[in-house]
Amino acid sequence: MGQSRPLHKSTPGDVESDPSTAELLAELREYLRPDPPAIGLPPQVFTSPRLYEAERARIFGSSWIMVAHRDQLANPGDYLALDIAGEPVMVTRGEDGRLHGMSPICRHRMMPLVESGAGSAKDFTCPYHLWRYHLDGTLAGATHMRGNPDFDPAACRLPGFAVAEWHGLVFVNLDAGAAPLDGWMADVEGDLANYRLDEMVQVVSWTEEWKCNWKIAVENGHENYHAIGFHPNTVKPLMTGGIDMEVRADSTLMTRLLTRTEVPMETSVLPLTDEEKKILFSFRLFPCSSVATFGESVAWISLIPLSLDRTEVRGGTLMPAAALEGADVEAIRKQTEAFTGVINAEDRRGLEAVQRTVGSRFIQRGHLSPKEPGLLAFYRNLAFALTEADPA
Ligand code: FES
Ligand SMILES: [Fe+2]
Repeated sequence: MGQSRPLHKSTPGDVESDPSTAELLAELREYLRPDPPAIGLPPQVFTSPRLYEAERARIFGSSWIMVAHRDQLANPGDYLALDIAGEPVMVTRGEDGRLHGMSPICRHRMMPLVESGAGSAKDFTCPYHLWRYHLDGTLAGATHMRGNPDFDPAACRLPGFAVAEWHGLVFVNLDAGAAPLDGWMADVEGDLANYRLDEMVQVVSWTEEWKCNWKIAVENGHENYHAIGFHPNTVKPLMTGGIDMEVRADSTLMTRLLTRTEVPMETSVLPLTDEEKKILFSFRLFPCSSVATFGESVAWISLIPLSLDRTEVRGGTLMPAAALEGADVEAIRKQTEAFTGVINAEDRRGLEAVQRTVGSRFIQRGHLSPKEPGLLAFYRNLAFALTEADPA
C-alpha cells in the first residue's frame, strides 16, 4: 500500500505545496546568505511551470517594469499594449496629457480591446459588442444595456495599473497600489545626473520576441563576460578596459554595475566628468529592466516574460537632443538601428540555443566566474522575491 498524502489545495502563489518546487526554493535561499555560493541557478528554474506561476504571482504581479520611452507616448491618444507574464497591459496618454495604465480587457465578456503593439486612438471600442472606453479606462458608452438594472455604467471601468515616468522612461506596475517608483530609483539619480536623461530623445526603439525563459535573458544582461563569445566584433571592441563588471553599492531591487574603459569616450554636449568618460554605467532594476550608458548614448532594455519559454525584448537608444541639432538624424538613426540590431541578434541566437538545452537530463549547475558578480545580485533578488517577499 502506498502512503497517502493529504491533498493540498494550491493557489498561484502557494509554491511550497509542490515538493520539487519547495526543493528549488530551498536552493534559491542559499543566495540570500552573506557569502552566497558562486554557482548558477538550478536548471529546473527555467523549466518549472509551477515556479513560473509563482513568478507571475510574486514578482510580475507587483513589480515596476520599464515598457517605453515617453517619445512612444508623446501625444494624447497614443497607446501601447503588451503582455507582462501573460497579463495584457495597456498604457495610454490621456486627453489631460497624463499617462494611464489599465487592463485592456472589455468588462462585458472579456474581449481584448486592442492587440499587442502601439497606435493612436480617440477612444477604444470593443470589437465584440461595441462598448466604448475613454483613454483613461472609464466607460464612454455601452449599447443595449439600459434594460439591465444591475448594470451601472458609472461604476464600469477598466481595472487600473500604476504608471510612472522617470526622466522620460515609462514604467508600469500591475499593482495599482504599488509603492512609488521614485523610491527604487533614488540610488541612481546621482549616477545618471550628468547624462541629463530629461533632455534626451529616443533615436531608435525595438520590440522583439526571443524564445527563451526570461531569466536566461536577464542573467545574460548582468554580465559582460559573454562579449568575448557572443559579441567579438560588436560589444567586445567597445570594452577597451576589459570585460569586468563591478557591482557598485548594491541595494534592494537595484543593482548598479560599471565597466571601466581604457580610452575616454568623446562627449560634445554632456557635462560628463573625466571619471564618467571612462565608465560604462548601467543599472538593473529587478526583475527585468535596465539602462546602460555609453558616452552620450543611453540604452534602455526590458526583458519581459510572455510565457515560460518566450520573452519580449523592448528597448531603445537615447541621445541628447542638443547633440542631434544640425546632424543628419536619419543617418544616425539608421546606423544605431543597424548596430543594435546586430547585437540583439547575437544575443538572441545565443540565448535561444541555451534555451534548447534546458530540458536535458545531463545539465547541472555551473560554477560562475569572478567576472560575473552581477548574476549573484540578480539571484539574490530572485530568491528574496520568491521565498521571503509578501506575495501581492
Ligand atoms: S465583449 Fe466587449 S462589448 Fe461585448
Ligand atoms: Fe549581449
